[in-house]
Amino acid sequence: MRDGVINKVAEFIELLIATRNAGKVRELRKLLEDLPLRLRDLSEWPEIAEVEEAGATFEKNAALKARGYADQTGLLALADDSGLEVAALGNAPGVLSARYAGPLASDAERITRLLVELEATGNVERRARFVCVIALARPGIEQVEIFAGTCEGHISSEPRGYGGFGYDPVFVPDGYTQTFGELSPEIKRQVSHRAHALAKARGFLSEQLPDMA
Ligand code: IMP
Repeated sequence: MRDGVINKVAEFIELLIATRNAGKVRELRKLLEDLPLRLRDLSEWPEIAEVEEAGATFEKNAALKARGYADQTGLLALADDSGLEVAALGNAPGVLSARYAGPLASDAERITRLLVELEATGNVERRARFVCVIALARPGIEQVEIFAGTCEGHISSEPRGYGGFGYDPVFVPDGYTQTFGELSPEIKRQVSHRAHALAKARGFLSEQLPDMA
């Protein structure tokens, strides 16, 4: 793969979904499926080095991941850095959402910690928002494109539903009474933070794809 050249296979530009989070891969694949792209993901590159999320912001971490994986694979790379901001917890867990109950904890353990921390604040203020920042990096091109989306809602009193991933069973988006764990994937695709960020990234890709082809 030469620097500055976007990989093309049989007319389609290849786009790497640069995450090992299976829930994110599932949602991003579905949100991108109608674009003329050959979608790939990191499960095809088990050996490449994990890009450390060393930044203090979603933007910085998304850019680090997109840049790191574009450079390692030679592909146009799309990275997602996302998390949950809970008002009563000073916007924690935020960028640390994936590691909130320790590096080896499960989604269930992270949810338990969240509910315990909220309980300790008196359980009055339950406002929360999901944040997603999508970064697109092209091999050999320094500039990284950044697109952000949010989804406002609140934290339910206990986990409900088995859909989605991560904190979905305790997040109720505004306008609904069910959690993302209970709502259908179609609804989440319409209202989520990821959907909003990706709608902007799709606009950029649609404009740029003809020039890349
Ligand atoms: P990171 O972007 O790899 O730092 O991880 C983001 C973490 O935020 C995930 O591991 C989840 O715990 C949480 N998260 C991000 N997006 C969602 C979502 O759509 N639903 C539920 N949890 C999410």
